[in-house]
Amino acid sequence: MVWKRKDLVGLKGLSREEIGLILETAASFKEVLFREVKKVPTLRGWTIANLFFEPSTRTRVSFELAGKRLSADMVNVSASSSSVVKGETLLDTAKNLRALVCDIIVLRHSLAGACHLLASRLPDVGVINAGDGMNEHPTQALLDMFTIRERLGTLEGIKVLIVGDILHSRVARSNIWGLTKMGADVSVCGPVSLLPRGIEKVVKVYTDLDEAMKGKDVLMFLRIQRERQEAGLFPSLREYHRLYGLTEERLKRLATKVILMHPGPVNRGVEMVPAGVDGENSVILEQVTNGVAVRMAVLYLVSTVLRR
Ligand code: CP
Repeated sequence: MVWKRKDLVGLKGLSREEIGLILETAASFKEVLFREVKKVPTLRGWTIANLFFEPSTRTRVSFELAGKRLSADMVNVSASSSSVVKGETLLDTAKNLRALVCDIIVLRHSLAGACHLLASRLPDVGVINAGDGMNEHPTQALLDMFTIRERLGTLEGIKVLIVGDILHSRVARSNIWGLTKMGADVSVCGPVSLLPRGIEKVVKVYTDLDEAMKGKDVLMFLRIQRERQEAGLFPSLREYHRLYGLTEERLKRLATKVILMHPGPVNRGVEMVPAGVDGENSVILEQVTNGVAVRMAVLYLVSTVLRR
């Protein structure tokens, strides 16, 4: 198939074939990461802006490395050190980046829909969603799918359990859209207060983690958003860990073939005990490495439309 989108705003609107194409393209780019000279000339002459209005380590750095591995010029703009603090709007900031001849903007923003806004208002600029509010984090889900496929050989029929704060998680949303399209059997588990209303119409829902873990191939633990604790959505971090965390006891019961995932950053001892984060079932750092290959694929595919 031929890629036809100048933007990647989410996985909800993508077809199975489009997701498949991104994963195949990422697989072909991955070997570049391990070359002596980690560079190909694919995006020579391109300028890409990382525009981040929220903190990030993995996503920002891996987009920067992905662009550099493709020979693009990369610029990093963080809201706190930009003219946003003087009152400039998101759209004006993006228009100024276009005036500086940036070809692609990678955007992280606290507002759901921010990427869609830029994508629709800037017809000659590619916009890639690096996380928009509680809406989507498409490249995270793509790198998660890439990692599962690399480890287990397929996504079709793979039983994936997503655990934790499903309500506030853009990672959960993108994974639910992406994994179900690719034929995985997705279920979620968390406290009722952290489950979105109506989620049971989309995926199987559990509130008992021990019951939920039975027979699963992949356990994906989500970051508990400490900032939500003040809202009283769960009693305490200790209680949360006991009920919804990977405890030492749950870790001991895991079959060797089960893989443990987490998008990061991990709250060690809350979502997962350190022995789980660092243990043999964990693919957390593989997820991070694969993020560069996946983001290379997305930047490349978007570029093919912008220059057509
Ligand atoms: N997984 C993820 O989005 O991590 P960062 O917030 O560090 O980018």
